Amino acid sequence: MKYLADTANIDEIKELLNYLPIEGVTTNPTLLAHSKKKLSQIIPEILQLLGDKMIHIQVMSEKSEDMLREAKRYRDYFQLNEKYFVKIPVTKEGIRAIKMVKEAGMNVTATAVFTQQQALIAAKAGADFVAPYVNRLDNIGAQGVNVVSDIVKTFTLHSLPCNVLGASFKNVNQVYQVSLNGCHAVTLSYEIFNLLIKHPMTDKGVADFTKDGIPYYDIQF
Ligand code: G3P
Repeated sequence: MKYLADTANIDEIKELLNYLPIEGVTTNPTLLAHSKKKLSQIIPEILQLLGDKMIHIQVMSEKSEDMLREAKRYRDYFQLNEKYFVKIPVTKEGIRAIKMVKEAGMNVTATAVFTQQQALIAAKAGADFVAPYVNRLDNIGAQGVNVVSDIVKTFTLHSLPCNVLGASFKNVNQVYQVSLNGCHAVTLSYEIFNLLIKHPMTDKGVADFTKDGIPYYDIQF
């Protein structure tokens, strides 16, 4: 399972990339608004940190032709390569755009996915990733983890070369559950990443090792 960072905060991205095995960054208009930076400023800053890792940038247009033009414009403006994924919401226009953007040679992440059928249709249209929103599903009384699991099963059953990128996580248990259900990738906030690796017993174990070992570890390094 791939881990991606779901943030447009440069300090967070810097730290996450420095410490954890992150394979890319996902952005969206809301995350951009939180960063308070314009697209033209933030994307080069992120790219400089990313090296050859993936970047997923969402288009804002509503019509498929405009989505295609927008996706191409970002590719050229930011001089993006095959690590660029165009995030397209799975509206009717979006589904059409997925096909068009793929035909134009770019990668696609279908986003704002809430059902197994939206995911299947996006995959059939050519999406490389589909992003189901786990916590937003949980918040409307649906089962986010089950939706992810259904989509994974569907892609396997129909031998579709599309990966599931779980998104919108608000607790560790949701990430734990989707990872056990074969989710191919997750995109997580800075806070969730820190919660994932934190354990008081680990901290206590390390503190005890330090206390016990100090008198005996006598080789300088
Ligand atoms: O990647 C999509 C994600 O950012 C949505 O998450 O937390 O706004 O539900 P959230």
